[in-house]
Amino acid sequence: MSIIVSPSILSADFANLERDIKKVEDSGADWLHIDVMDGHFVPNITIGVPVVKSLRRITKMPLDVHLMIENPQNYIEAFSKAGADIITFHYEAVKEPIEIINKIRSYGIKAGISIKPKTEPENIIPYLKYTDMVLIMTVEPGFGGQTFISECAQKIKIIKQYGSKDLIIQVDGGINDKTGKICTDFGANSLVAGSYIYNSENIKQAINSLKN
Ligand code: DX5
Ligand code: ZN
Repeated sequence: MSIIVSPSILSADFANLERDIKKVEDSGADWLHIDVMDGHFVPNITIGVPVVKSLRRITKMPLDVHLMIENPQNYIEAFSKAGADIITFHYEAVKEPIEIINKIRSYGIKAGISIKPKTEPENIIPYLKYTDMVLIMTVEPGFGGQTFISECAQKIKIIKQYGSKDLIIQVDGGINDKTGKICTDFGANSLVAGSYIYNSENIKQAINSLKN
């Protein structure tokens, strides 16, 4: 499986989202990572369903929606109808992960389950056979531009060991060419990067450096 690069628009200019999305699309990005925050599950508020709906009209890239919200089950239908192709929820935010995964998949899209830095990977092993993707957070969720927590990368090995060969293992937080390589060496096959891509002088080069 080649590396799926998913630029996070959290580091884009929200007054120029279309321009900034075209920049990554034209530079070979595979997916578009959209960080949804509710000010409860994480101490920040970002974007919601109407923005996803509008973005659906301006890009062909799969929309990789990362829900950092409480009660994600209440918003799955709305995000899928808005055009999400992948919906990831947090293990810490739900009681019955399998129900959430099945609900996401019932809309014909991919489901992801995510763990925060302090959550042990063993907690989600029972769900690996039901899910399309695991998102291992390598920073505390809430903000872009934080420093990669290297201990979190160790979790990739455990998920890789128990997951099927088709499982997408994504990492998010502090990813650049160096930390991305650490993660792909451990078995990650999808890299989310916000500040590294959007702050770089040459976006195409930055995306390529994550792919190779
Ligand atoms: C953080 C978000 C990330 C964020 C990553 O809670 O989930 O997707 O945009 O930003 P960087 O790549 O700058 O760490
Ligand atoms: Zn994210």
